[in-house]
Amino acid sequence: FGKNRRNAAGYDVTSPDELSPLKAEMEEEVAETFRACPLIGGAEMRGHESKILNPANHAEVVGIVQEADADQAVDALNRALKAKPHWDDKGADARADILNTAADLFEKQGPRLMALTMKEAGKTLNDAVAELREAVDFLRYYANRARADFAAPMPLPGPTGEENRISLHGRGVFLCISPWNFPLAIFTGQVAAALAAGNAVLAKPAEQTPLIAYEAVKILLQAGVPGEILHLLPGDGPTIGNALLSDPRLGGVAFTGSTETARLINRKLAERDGPIVPLIAETGGQNAMIVDSSALPEQVTRDVLISSFQSAGQRCSALRILFVQDDIADKLIEMIKGAMEELHVNDPQYLSSDIGPVIDADARDILVKHAERMDKEAKLLKAVAAPKNRPEGTYFEPRMYEIESLSQLQREVFGPILHVVRFKASQLDKVIEDINATGYGLTFAIHSRIEEKVAYICKNLHVGNAYVNRNQIGAIVGVQPFGGEGLSGTGPKAGGPRYLHRFAAERTISIDT
Ligand code: NAD
Ligand code: ALA
Repeated sequence: FGKNRRNAAGYDVTSPDELSPLKAEMEEEVAETFRACPLIGGAEMRGHESKILNPANHAEVVGIVQEADADQAVDALNRALKAKPHWDDKGADARADILNTAADLFEKQGPRLMALTMKEAGKTLNDAVAELREAVDFLRYYANRARADFAAPMPLPGPTGEENRISLHGRGVFLCISPWNFPLAIFTGQVAAALAAGNAVLAKPAEQTPLIAYEAVKILLQAGVPGEILHLLPGDGPTIGNALLSDPRLGGVAFTGSTETARLINRKLAERDGPIVPLIAETGGQNAMIVDSSALPEQVTRDVLISSFQSAGQRCSALRILFVQDDIADKLIEMIKGAMEELHVNDPQYLSSDIGPVIDADARDILVKHAERMDKEAKLLKAVAAPKNRPEGTYFEPRMYEIESLSQLQREVFGPILHVVRFKASQLDKVIEDINATGYGLTFAIHSRIEEKVAYICKNLHVGNAYVNRNQIGAIVGVQPFGGEGLSGTGPKAGGPRYLHRFAAERTISIDT
């Protein structure tokens, strides 16, 4: 199973031979205006209409969305409940075949999906390639896992003289709620996992990115997922959430988004009557990197820039707090400042753009407010300048501040703002203690050439994904299963061998032979 698995190839955008035809195809695809609407029982429904603007250029309408209302959400649940046994009975091999067909179709329609991801979510081309690859990887990986773990019962030989076996089944109807920052990859990953495990799915994409979700669902239906099994509910989070989360017939929830929303969903599920069902919540982070005096400054500079500013810092995995040993702090800060000088923040349609916009005005306002507070309470080390001519969009230029301690940051700041803290070698345990005390535990990176120190820090930090002498973003499906601890998530890890089990019910059969 492991040996035969391959991750998606994607595109080599550094090769002009590959880039030119890809760009041409992508441009053709986005010439149209996209649309999204509720897809219930495979049929297109109408709803409250709103425009989706390109966050990199507000003059551009990317598409029109019709949003689902509470009645449509309940209708989708009723239909999914009726249909779910057929999907589970179909068996894991048949479900896996359909998901693999969908993966092939995603690849075939790659240029369209990437072009839309760039327009709707403001992603750069590199990020759009990564997004497509991850979505395809999720589909194939969960298809493979379903075949391995769900296709046949596992025999359990023992002393009873009976025939005993254990098998995995879908739990019923899963509500999959996804964020805007990986509008294709995470949306597809949640849905693929729930389907692979034998569940019917109500898919609720983020308000900001329904168009790409609609395209993904259309492909899944085309690949053979029955319309009664997979329903799309674009629309307002609280509206859909209030309609479905207190319904005792819901079999489980897969959520990726902020820690605050996860808590709210958890409360709603706990308050309802009926069975206690799983909530898989993958949430925010307060991610740190520790750099000691044995680190290679050039390598650290590169990895800090990637970790903090790629995707405009809008990754749950992104670096927020850089702890630098004081002996090398001045030198390293100068190098990072120099490298930041070279960053281009502009519309991703220009390949020279390293960083695109943040998702919307609310996201930018939060960053502006945080920067205003930091301007008063911290030392501004660097603010990247905005270019002179740029379309009107929600841009925020990367900033780097020096702060005294981690306690100055109360919560995750979701964007390209890096905070630097100096520490003395003798304070390493305090640094570890402070990082653990945030309560988050998503990603962490260490740059050091001292193996015992690396081992000590990795052992004592409570984080889901630790990276040594590299950047801390871009976990690869099946290779670097992803997910946090504490305030950062419930587990199990997405793209990992145990993820599907949380979407499943286990049954043991004992037969007296
Ligand atoms: P969010 O919590 O605002 O929204 C996420 C989803 O929840 C959206 O679809 C939204 O409509 C829905 N929602 C909002 N209120 C709801 C309610 N009352 N009931 C039901 N659904 C509701 O998060 P966001 O701003 O879209 O995403 C950014 C956050 O996601 C950041 O905190 C980031 O760290 C986190 N994130 C985590 C991971 C991870 O794997 N740990 C990955 C990506 C993003
Ligand atoms: N899985 C994404 C990353 O590792 C969030 O950056």
